[in-house]
Amino acid sequence: MAKKVYSFPAGFLWGGATAANQYEGGWLEDGKGPNVPDHITGGTVDTARRWTKEIEAETYYPSHEATDFYHHYKEDIALMAEMGFNVFRLSINWARIYPQGDDLEPNRKGIEFYHNVFRECKKYGIEPLVTLSHYETPWNLTEKYNGWESREVIDFFVRYATTCFMEYKDEVKYWLTFNEINCAMQSFGTIMGLGMVPESDQMNFAATESKEQVQKRFQALHHQFVASAKAVQIGHAINPNFMIGCMIAGGLAYPYTCNPKDALAAQNKNNMSNYFCGDVQVRGEYPYFAKRFFKENDIHLNITAEDEIELLNGTVDFYSFSYYMSSTETVDEDLKAAKGNIFAGVPNPYLEASDWGWQIDPEGLRWYLNDVYGRYEIPLMIVENGLGAIDVRAEDGKFHDTYRIEYLRKHIQQMGEAIEDGVDLMGYTMWGCVDLVSASTGEMKKRYGFIYVDKDNDGNGDLHREKKDSFEWYKKVIATNGKDLD
Ligand code: BG6
Repeated sequence: MAKKVYSFPAGFLWGGATAANQYEGGWLEDGKGPNVPDHITGGTVDTARRWTKEIEAETYYPSHEATDFYHHYKEDIALMAEMGFNVFRLSINWARIYPQGDDLEPNRKGIEFYHNVFRECKKYGIEPLVTLSHYETPWNLTEKYNGWESREVIDFFVRYATTCFMEYKDEVKYWLTFNEINCAMQSFGTIMGLGMVPESDQMNFAATESKEQVQKRFQALHHQFVASAKAVQIGHAINPNFMIGCMIAGGLAYPYTCNPKDALAAQNKNNMSNYFCGDVQVRGEYPYFAKRFFKENDIHLNITAEDEIELLNGTVDFYSFSYYMSSTETVDEDLKAAKGNIFAGVPNPYLEASDWGWQIDPEGLRWYLNDVYGRYEIPLMIVENGLGAIDVRAEDGKFHDTYRIEYLRKHIQQMGEAIEDGVDLMGYTMWGCVDLVSASTGEMKKRYGFIYVDKDNDGNGDLHREKKDSFEWYKKVIATNGKDLD
């Protein structure tokens, strides 16, 4: 059968994505304050990361140096340009601009750093896509205000966002307010997303929380919604050409069987993970099913009339999301026990999983794109997708990451299918284009990049950069605007 060639629109944004807390390092340089991940230790797939109130002298905190974009940005951006990127997603480290979060004046040196980065991007015709908050709540806001639980934090964020919009209004067009805002729907989001003190010192994905903590978490999420909506309005007033998006951790849950109960469970999961936050940020109000959820979980939010107006006036220009895997839902407890209930539910027998148990599902991406586009009908962008894998240097001294090429090819093909289906897709930024620290496990071993960085789980390595095979492959994909995926 002849190979299918896909048509991506002219001007399609091709690039890669990163986040300051996992990539930048320079954790206390040039006036930066500590942020939440700076207080989170390394871990593994079996050992949960820990957060510590004080920085322990003998403990390793991967964000402190990460893969040192702070001192390698020129080299890294040049490599991105060589691949042909026309977009580069990065986050601004809030505590680099406002070291304590509640300062009245920003840190000029922090502001200058990002001017330098954006100028470097412009030199090569790369559009920065900037996340204002990618798990980077300043630590002082956690200590003093319990993070986003406090309504006061809305104003601190708005001050920070306004500073960024004003400073970079001629350098940045594409913005995202909060990374994976829906991670606040689960206990993982308590400290990472919301900067709140968790009930356990472990970052355990399956952790259960008290009723009080869940109540606080949803109130904190509401504060982020309001902060995001205010920022969108201020951004548009500062530069009407800004495109400001939301960012959702895209998950797709299948019913494990055709038992209607499984189907309902999957629908509920999709509603809660994908649409709960998406509806607030795209439509400007909580979804119809939120009322029942709040009632049944005894959650009572303080939502003012002004908040409701802000949400309606501050809807986003586009919907962006991350997509790595799909999951399954079943009501059958015996099955869950027998098959092992992994992170993504009972393992889907039709799919293979990565070394970290993330089930690889390219068709699921097409499903998700169609589903979300059908609901919102605004431009979409995939701002994270990729394969976390162990890269081993081959005998010839190179990194032949064919498994990564395979993963990306299949996902890009499904993007092509979705575009043919009629989905308005603006662009694609592959996650972790330069190797960086894993958010869930804190490891370096879990690598995503086209570009290898010499650094290991314990912090050893000289940080030099090397191209993997996927580098040349992606370069060709971009050069042919997605036509040549071989
Ligand atoms: C997303 C986050 O959840 O997934 C990133 O926005 C994260 O910060 C990425 O790194 C991949 O997850 P992990 O745990 O493999 O780093």
